[in-house]
Amino acid sequence: MPDPRHNVTPPIAAPSILSADFSRLADAVALADPARDWVHCDVMDNHFVPNLTFGPLIVDAVRKMTHGFVDVHLMIDRPERLIPQFAKAGADQITIHVEAAHDSSVAEVLALIRRQGVRAGLAIKPGTRFDAARPHLSDLDVLLIMTVEPGFGGQVFMADMMPKVTEAREERDKFGWRYLIEVDGGIAPDTAREARAAGAEVFVAGNAVYNERDPHVALAVLRQAIR
Ligand code: DX5
Ligand code: ZN
Repeated sequence: MPDPRHNVTPPIAAPSILSADFSRLADAVALADPARDWVHCDVMDNHFVPNLTFGPLIVDAVRKMTHGFVDVHLMIDRPERLIPQFAKAGADQITIHVEAAHDSSVAEVLALIRRQGVRAGLAIKPGTRFDAARPHLSDLDVLLIMTVEPGFGGQVFMADMMPKVTEAREERDKFGWRYLIEVDGGIAPDTAREARAAGAEVFVAGNAVYNERDPHVALAVLRQAIR
């Protein structure tokens, strides 16, 4: 069940622990303010993307370190096989890639997520058109528009994704859908401002938070930039 303490009112900053020092994971998670930020967890399988990160075990650990909102971004093929485990680990929201559903349809996987009592999101890669998400828009809590090719932190923001963000915003306003528009990849205060102007509402940032000299200050500056 959704936790009433969680903030789902934009704008929202979502520090991505992908860039954190995992020997100090608790500090990285504690950086996020449970009352307003989301903790973004990037799950990669060395198949859907070339990189390999972590699974439900770490999400479970993150869950124990915060009562804030845990945002799980699955960059894995056939996500339906692991969704019950991520839900059990304590994810508040699970986002799958529209490009990753093979055995089950995207609609079935979204329904599976929702049956676990978890918010459901759909992500689209830079090369995927907004149209690919269109059949699912009424079902989504979040639409994640990738602003880098998924797989690695620290890449350069793709400003040419901004028309897609604007399209998603216009479409939602036109039809009254409920999804939030999340951007992920190369987000720093300047690019976050640009994405916000285009219509984005949730801002994932790894490198620009955890690789800064003072991550607390970096996150505060990001929050300020998206206000
Ligand atoms: C990329 C991940 C991102 C990543 C963003 O595949 O989905 O969430 O952590 O990292 P930065 O902010 O460093 O681009
Ligand atoms: Zn991500």
